[in-house]
Amino acid sequence: MHIVFAAPECVPYAKTGGVADVAAALPREVARQGHQATVYLPLYRQAQKYLKETKVAIPSLTIPFPFYNRFVRVLDAGKLDGVQFYFVDCPELFDREYLYETPSGEYSDNAERFGLFSRAVLESSKQLGVPNLFHVHGWPPAVLPVLLRTVYYFDPILKNAACLLTIHNADRQGRFPAKTVEQLLLPWDVYSDDHVKLDDTFNFLKGGIVYSDAITTVSHKYAEELRTPEFGHGLDPVLAKRADDFRGILNGVDYRVWNPATDSKIAAHFTPEKLEGKLTCRKDLLHAFAVSSVGESTAVLGMVSHLSTQKGFDLVAQIFEALKKENVLLLVLGMGEPYYENLFRELGEKNPGKIAVRIAYDETLAHKIAAGSDMILMPSRSEPCGLNQIYGMKYGTVPLVRATGGLDDTVEEWKAEAGTGTGFKFYGLEPEALLKTVRQALAVFADKEQWRKLMRNGMAQDYSWAKPAKEYIHIYEEIVRRKS
Ligand code: GLC
Repeated sequence: MHIVFAAPECVPYAKTGGVADVAAALPREVARQGHQATVYLPLYRQAQKYLKETKVAIPSLTIPFPFYNRFVRVLDAGKLDGVQFYFVDCPELFDREYLYETPSGEYSDNAERFGLFSRAVLESSKQLGVPNLFHVHGWPPAVLPVLLRTVYYFDPILKNAACLLTIHNADRQGRFPAKTVEQLLLPWDVYSDDHVKLDDTFNFLKGGIVYSDAITTVSHKYAEELRTPEFGHGLDPVLAKRADDFRGILNGVDYRVWNPATDSKIAAHFTPEKLEGKLTCRKDLLHAFAVSSVGESTAVLGMVSHLSTQKGFDLVAQIFEALKKENVLLLVLGMGEPYYENLFRELGEKNPGKIAVRIAYDETLAHKIAAGSDMILMPSRSEPCGLNQIYGMKYGTVPLVRATGGLDDTVEEWKAEAGTGTGFKFYGLEPEALLKTVRQALAVFADKEQWRKLMRNGMAQDYSWAKPAKEYIHIYEEIVRRKS
């Protein structure tokens, strides 16, 4: 089979979250398992530095809009680990500082940007290779299946291509004004409650759910949660209608990139048998955050996350005063809602030695946090999969999570008597529940022998992509068969 992945971001080219890791690792594993994999990405400013020597695959594609055309180039970045990469080059839409939004809000032309990207993927495929299946990730390219099944319906070479949508986060759906229908040159009949319309807006993710042949999301628990109004945010009834074609597949992680025995971004290597290197990583991490005064008995709690209410930063803020009294140091890396960026920046300035904050996307620092912290804190209100807790486990960094979505699926509670489990979980949304669990974890941390057992339990877990990729390939085969 030939699978075309339409992705909004992908490491190393551009990343704001876990979808970028998935868009890199899944195609690679699909290729390794014997299929042809092609990835299309927008050529963001972030990605330009990787594309110095790139060939032009298509010098000009015409992408029509009402009363004007845009002309885009498609660049051929060649094959990496068996995966072909193409970039859609439209500087007026993608040569910008951020991917989707600035600190003051979303780019106002996101519908046009990702409508253009989706159309460009379809048009390029006609010239560069029509796949058996399009696999679209997240809300930005979720309008691709809408185009494919409406204005491309009679296209003799695209009409048999199947389409799979993976929902990475239902908190971001891509909601646009109704007139987006005309802007993307779609027929008005798509704008109905049975199609793309939700709460009087054009909803990209809903369109993707309605028009794809099958839908997946990134953990089993989140697949269940999405069927409820609390997590579905309006998509729950839409997914209920597609129940037979909707399921969860837990993300894998790429241990070639995230492995303390080989990681090139960390200060020293270590393994479950030889843990000494982790101490060097801890020192290096503290140095990177310019913290000098913490001893070995202090638990270093790392957070690598979008700074938002969804990720539970309100809970952390509420327990911070109490947390300060414990023997802990909190390290925060990420960007997000300006409210939390300011709040945590300020906490960092006022409480040196207790919390240090870096407002940035920084892949190297993310690796250092996975390697050098004692715990990874993920108190998310909702977490479709979450990858940092899985990375943490591999590095002997114990996850402390709220029992939701993929966090609940991947972390098993520590049971001291049996010596089983990989981390700590709390339930409910009360800040006290988080605080209580942190204190529990600190009590175990104080017992070095127990803690080492807990670390090693996590390091022994295997979340590699081989198995989930097989599940994806199984779905690909199923829906490709249905189309032919
Ligand atoms: C989104 C989700 C996160 C998930 C990632 C990859 O970023 O918020 O939970 O791990 O996508 O699927």
